[in-house]
Amino acid sequence: MVSSDRLAPGEQGQIQVTVRTDRKKGVIARTVQVRTNDPLNPLVILNLRAKVLDPFHGKNLDAGEMFRSPCRKCHVDRGRGRLGADLFRADCIMCHMRGKSAPPLASLRKLSRKRLQVVIEKGVPESVMPGFSWRVGGPLTDSQIRSLITYIKGR
Ligand code: HEC
Ligand code: HEC
Repeated sequence: MVSSDRLAPGEQGQIQVTVRTDRKKGVIARTVQVRTNDPLNPLVILNLRAKVLDPFHGKNLDAGEMFRSPCRKCHVDRGRGRLGADLFRADCIMCHMRGKSAPPLASLRKLSRKRLQVVIEKGVPESVMPGFSWRVGGPLTDSQIRSLITYIKGR
């Protein structure tokens, strides 16, 4: 949006630019082209840079906190009442995807059922993998955890 489409030589105006950041992370860059009838500068390119901050994921992340508000709307609520693959997609995949810091599904599959159960219930200490069992304050019931183990093992 421009404050005026006519500027006399030496006069100033304003350009308002809106950038949507809701699916962006980190540094983003945009350019705005300003075309004028100024014979010396018919085209001016404005380079905009901005750093999109993540309001939820700071440096000192406490894994258990993600089960509480406002974190739970992304980390817990979508998995409510779900089982197996649906539950994995809702609660686990955001971290357990290829290329992320947590091992992908193919690696989880190689673990024993016992190991899967212990880790899903109690989490991995000193890591961002929280214990999901209701017994340790997590959101999942025993049958939801069993359904995840069945899904991960493929049977
Ligand atoms: C808007 C949705 C959303 C909200 C709200 C949210 N998270 Fe997350 N969180 C994610 C996604 C998606 C990931 C996967 C990593 C990524 O893509 O950044 C993630 C990853 C994480 C991780 C793992 C980071 C790592 O280093 O692998 C932790 C811990 C975490 N969130 C904790 C929290 C806490 C604590 C809160 C509340 C203060 C919270 N999250 C709020 C979506 C959300
Ligand atoms: C906030 C991110 C995050 C979420 C959500 C998450 N995990 Fe994890 N998970 C991790 C990380 C990181 C590790 C690796 C921990 C380590 O060994 O340092 C891990 C480790 C594991 C392990 C053990 C891997 C091993 O080699 O011993 C299993 C099993 C596991 N997660 C299953 C799950 C399941 C099932 C869910 C969903 C209910 C889930 N995780 C949700 C981050 C997450």
